[in-house]
Amino acid sequence: MRRAARFVLLLVAGLGLLTCLAYWVLTRTTRDWFNADLRQRAGLAVLSAEQSLVKHWSEGEFGELSTVLTDITRDERVMGAATCAPDGSLVVATGGFPTAFGCRTVFGWMRREGVGLASHGSWTRTTEFPGGPVHVSVVRLGGSAKPLGAVVLLHDLSFLDRREATTRNQVLVAFLVLALAASAITMIVARVAWRGWLEELKRAITGRPTREFRALASDVRDLVDKLSQERENDVRVGGWTPERLRSAMVQHLQGERIVVVANREPYIHEKLEDGTIRVVHPASGLVTALEPVLRACSGVWVAHGSGSADRETVDAHQRVKVPPGEESYSVRRVWLSEVEEAGYYYGFSNEGLWPLCHLAHARPVFRAEDWEQYQRVNQKFADAVCAEVDVEDPIVLVQDYHFALAPRMIRERLPHATILTFWHVPWPNAERFGICPFRTELLEGLLGSSILGFHIRQHCNNFLEAADTFLEARIDRETNAVVQRSRKTLVRPYPISIEWPVHWLDGLPNAAECRKQVIAELGLRADTLLGIGVDRMDYTKGIEERLLAVEELLVRYPEYRGKFVFVQLAAPSRSRIERYKDLNESVGRVAEAINARFGQGDYRPIVLHRAHHEPPKVFRYLRAADVCYVSSLHDGMNLVAKEFIAARDDERGVLVLSQFTGAARELTEALLVNPYDIRQASDALVSALRMPLDEQAERMRAMRALVSHFNVYRWAGRMLVDAAQLRRRERLTGRLRNSVAPAFEGA
Ligand code: F6P
Repeated sequence: MRRAARFVLLLVAGLGLLTCLAYWVLTRTTRDWFNADLRQRAGLAVLSAEQSLVKHWSEGEFGELSTVLTDITRDERVMGAATCAPDGSLVVATGGFPTAFGCRTVFGWMRREGVGLASHGSWTRTTEFPGGPVHVSVVRLGGSAKPLGAVVLLHDLSFLDRREATTRNQVLVAFLVLALAASAITMIVARVAWRGWLEELKRAITGRPTREFRALASDVRDLVDKLSQERENDVRVGGWTPERLRSAMVQHLQGERIVVVANREPYIHEKLEDGTIRVVHPASGLVTALEPVLRACSGVWVAHGSGSADRETVDAHQRVKVPPGEESYSVRRVWLSEVEEAGYYYGFSNEGLWPLCHLAHARPVFRAEDWEQYQRVNQKFADAVCAEVDVEDPIVLVQDYHFALAPRMIRERLPHATILTFWHVPWPNAERFGICPFRTELLEGLLGSSILGFHIRQHCNNFLEAADTFLEARIDRETNAVVQRSRKTLVRPYPISIEWPVHWLDGLPNAAECRKQVIAELGLRADTLLGIGVDRMDYTKGIEERLLAVEELLVRYPEYRGKFVFVQLAAPSRSRIERYKDLNESVGRVAEAINARFGQGDYRPIVLHRAHHEPPKVFRYLRAADVCYVSSLHDGMNLVAKEFIAARDDERGVLVLSQFTGAARELTEALLVNPYDIRQASDALVSALRMPLDEQAERMRAMRALVSHFNVYRWAGRMLVDAAQLRRRERLTGRLRNSVAPAFEGA
């Protein structure tokens, strides 16, 4: 209703404006019409009497001349008429002709406008007179070569004012009537619609919704149930923590061990030149999110053993206990040959599926030989998973686009397994997905899952659309599921997040100290304004666009030259692929060009560090920065944005975030930009640099509250609780089916 009132106010204001405009146009037009009309009338009146006027005047018959003039002034609006000689002397005037209008006065006006009797046949003007406005017309008598003189006619215009007043009143009344009618109609419509909605809602709540409202009502009821359940739980046990996740596992899943299958391993053992082995934490959103979950729940992580010292560090079962020194879960390493890695990882996954799923203008390449390796490696991982489980209904978490076929392969061997698959990248719309020659196999593979998760609802919808378009399957819109051969796969959004608090921050100094360290490390001036970007070197991250936005900032806001420095930490990634090699080179070129253009003395606006950086360093830089720019051209979620927020316990620093990330749906207090719009992004960076501290704190507080609540334990917890529910239901229906089957058989 408040909306309707606002609408009415706007409507009335709009109508008021329109009325003023209409009134102004109306009066101007009528005045113009009247002026033209009077000029024409004066001309006609004099023309019709011209012969007698000229005759009487030339023959000095001034009595007759006066009679003819009086005839002309019979029209009630003509006040008076006079004949004037060319030298400005009055020859004859009618009774009503005011003395204030001497012939000389009128000719004086004409002269000032450069009008003479010889050159112009007629002339008009409107002038103010004590009784109201007067229209003056001058019509020449005799030929232009030697004019005899002129007739001056005065028309009373005071009637015009009266007419305008009447028009104004009429327009005002029309406006009032219109405004009242429009307001009344709006209020009635709003009230009826509101009442209708309330009634529907009442009916829905009391369990009697109409047919149109039924689907919505069930959604609302589910949501309310879910929210109240969550709220009850949150009040009872607090927010999501590792402990809560563990106890949820015990409560809902009898503490069963989880098995994760993900290509990237959380700890990579690398052999250094001096023969020692170091542990590397890979730059991977998937690892950032999932590792804390495994630490909390224990279990096993099946991954590709990609480190140069990985084989040396596993036991006889290809397992290694991690994290080093803590050993709360195992990594089971799967070994891949060169050919397998080239076809499955570099080829099908990262030259085919990666560009297929990201709208970042890279052409997906699908080679039959890569597809072969993809199938083969998926089978290899599925076998490894089956070898790791010790019950017939394990909980398996399949991760990402590397393993679209694994869910079905695992299901075939373990029909009672609960398989939760999470797709960490966007899912394209059906039209785009349809270009993949193996689309059916990929969809069928994923439908081996019990639950299929995406970051956002839009990607769930895209998947449902693809299944609907390319498979013989039923889409259950009520539960958002795909049903195929009587198996159901729930398709749900689970926006991924980070651990809270982030354990990497434990040993770090406070933000002010981090800033000091970073400034010293980079050899910058103490008052430098610092921007930061942290990514894998990937074309979806918009790194070139980000640097161009910095350049644009320096062009349009020269006061930041010498003061603003943007540090880009870029971890090398997938560097055997041509597109990634090109990107690496072009990012280097762009950075160099900007530094050459704006560098001066020691000052370089861009600091590009192309190397792997361990998490403590990354968090130190995030803490030190004034602004963090995440400019992905397309990104499922982007956890760097959330890590920046986690790092800023000083409630300072501004996040500039691409609107094309999943994170932009949640982090609405960031400055959201279109990374393709370089000018807009440069403006946003400047707004960030100029943002007052209290506003920074307000935004940061809101985002920290959100990320701390919607952390990765909640992400995993919600998926596992949903899985537990599904298991219970399946076990129950399984039992029921077993108990009723004989009766049917007997019948
Ligand atoms: O963002 C998609 C993703 O696969 C993540 O899941 C992972 O964090 C990242 O890409 C790393 O890619 P890669 O494992 O190829 O280095």
